[in-house]
Amino acid sequence: MTIVKTIEEVRAQVKAWRAEGLTVGLVPTMGYLHEGHQSLIARSVAENDRTVVSDFVNPIQFGPTEDLATYPRDIERDAALCESTGANLIFHPEADEMYAPDFCTYVDMDHLTKGLCGKTRPIHFRGVCTVVSKLFHIVQPDRAYFGQKDAQQLAVIRRMVRDLNMPLTIVGCPIIREEDGLAKSSRNTYLSAEERKAALCLSRGLNKGKAAVEAGETDAEKVKAIITAEIEAEPLSRIDYVEIVDWNNLEPVSSTEGSILAAVAVYIGKTRLIDNFIIER
Ligand code: PAJ
Repeated sequence: MTIVKTIEEVRAQVKAWRAEGLTVGLVPTMGYLHEGHQSLIARSVAENDRTVVSDFVNPIQFGPTEDLATYPRDIERDAALCESTGANLIFHPEADEMYAPDFCTYVDMDHLTKGLCGKTRPIHFRGVCTVVSKLFHIVQPDRAYFGQKDAQQLAVIRRMVRDLNMPLTIVGCPIIREEDGLAKSSRNTYLSAEERKAALCLSRGLNKGKAAVEAGETDAEKVKAIITAEIEAEPLSRIDYVEIVDWNNLEPVSSTEGSILAAVAVYIGKTRLIDNFIIER
């Protein structure tokens, strides 16, 4: 496995693989890898001849008051995890390799990016769509892998690929959790021991909501109330949103009978955590 920092090196390697007729999978990440990322890499390794992992904390998807400066980084540990999982190449550029000082071209999306996380993170998905488009152009993979952990991001990327006719397949992968139910996240490292316990209110609330739907509750407001009550019972929590939306277009729904995404964003202390469940039918 090799680590490269320039676009030119990625292109040269992928070109050589293509000349041999090999297929290429891409796993975009911001590093500080855990078993959630690893599950995406393992899936790509299983489904493609070669796997590229991008490891880049993308500055343009962070708002001015967000955690860009403190976002955890550890490229050596990331490299060990990628290598042991079977990845072939890590693309780990500096910000100036990706963004020229006079960079001014963005991929922007209406509708899907306005609700859920888009409400408190107005420039976030523009940054995500832009960097992911750039990575698709740089690597030109056959498949790219995204986690359902960031469900809105997965829906947005799928729509971007459809709307802009990008020639690759997007593969969505299930949420990987800690044993006690907390969704794995690089941001979990921000939590104190007390906050780590409190953070379980997200998965607990979602589990209760999912159980209610599975038991036949069709009123989305009632399911939201069940999830909200469980999260609010935790004193260290502050809800950003609890929403139930149509999984195909992310529009709010009043009934849970179709394919739905139930998504929450909750502050535990200063750390904002997200989690969700999807029911597809
Ligand atoms: P990052 O937060 O590093 O996540 C990279 C990928 O790993 C995303 O597709 C995310 O959904 C997935 N992932 C994270 N935690 C997961 C978990 N517990 N289970 C399953 N998958 C999980 O998402 C980003 O980076 C960035 O926005 C990026 C797409 C790289 C663009 O900069």
